[in-house]
Amino acid sequence: MESLRHAADLIAGAERLVVFTGAGMSAESGVPTFRDALTGLWARYDAQALATPEAFERDPALVWGWYEWRRELVERVDPNPGHDAVARLDCTLITQNVDQLHERAGSKNVLHLHGSLFEPRCSACGKPADLLAEPVGTAVSGDGPRTDEPVGTAVSGDGPRTPPSCENCGSPVRPGVVWFGEALPADTLEKAVEAAANADVLITVGTAGVVYPAAEIPQVTAKLGGTVIQVNPQPTPLDAVCALNLRGTAAEVLPQIIS
Ligand code: APR
Ligand code: ZN
Repeated sequence: MESLRHAADLIAGAERLVVFTGAGMSAESGVPTFRDALTGLWARYDAQALATPEAFERDPALVWGWYEWRRELVERVDPNPGHDAVARLDCTLITQNVDQLHERAGSKNVLHLHGSLFEPRCSACGKPADLLAEPVGTAVSGDGPRTDEPVGTAVSGDGPRTPPSCENCGSPVRPGVVWFGEALPADTLEKAVEAAANADVLITVGTAGVVYPAAEIPQVTAKLGGTVIQVNPQPTPLDAVCALNLRGTAAEVLPQIIS
């Protein structure tokens, strides 16, 4: 396809390359995109309603259980050929994803705009909680984990579970992700915007481009004269700022445009 060759040439010739990824990047690894119907016990919940500070305040066990279920799911899957291709690039990698599949494929210094499933912290004093050291909370209902297993052990089943308590102040530990209504980590966002502003080429992969301020990133590059390439099987609002819209999936397209 002509546009694949054009994209490959632009990427190979880029001097300040940025890659910006969303949930679609991990879809072919088996991680449901945020807006996909949630499965099992979580099917009855609206993901957007669980990913808020108010939801955690109201029911810490439900929210902690959901994120632990997602973390356990991510630990069971592998990076896909799209992650492997991105890891071959000398680029600034900015992701909205909270999984660690880019890192497991070999990418370094990944800028996580929305945090990570692997960096829980105290909901009150902010002290990082060690995933493996903290004894897992007791299962509150449903078939949650046995209580004698450390948090890091993959557990079967899913359901609400009491979050561990901060060893510093005793408050509940929360997932290290950015919830709706919360500010993004300022220094990470600043680095991301700076990289996007300086980029001569930015590849946006697997994002619907509807959640701000993250969705600004590709637009900053385009506004300042950089070339934006999009990889997504569907059209998105970002189409308008992209020089190339490659209608395909991350695992199919990226290995064809990244040498
Ligand atoms: N390859 C590439 N793109 C894909 C694939 C794939 N295999 N499968 C799906 N997509 C695309 C979809 O067409 C959609 O445009 O990925 C996008 C996924 O959109 P969302 O689920 O909205 O994910 P994202 O854009 O990353 O959401 C941004 O919003 O949900 C919150 O905090 C959450 O980080 C997330 C943010
Ligand atoms: Zn604390």
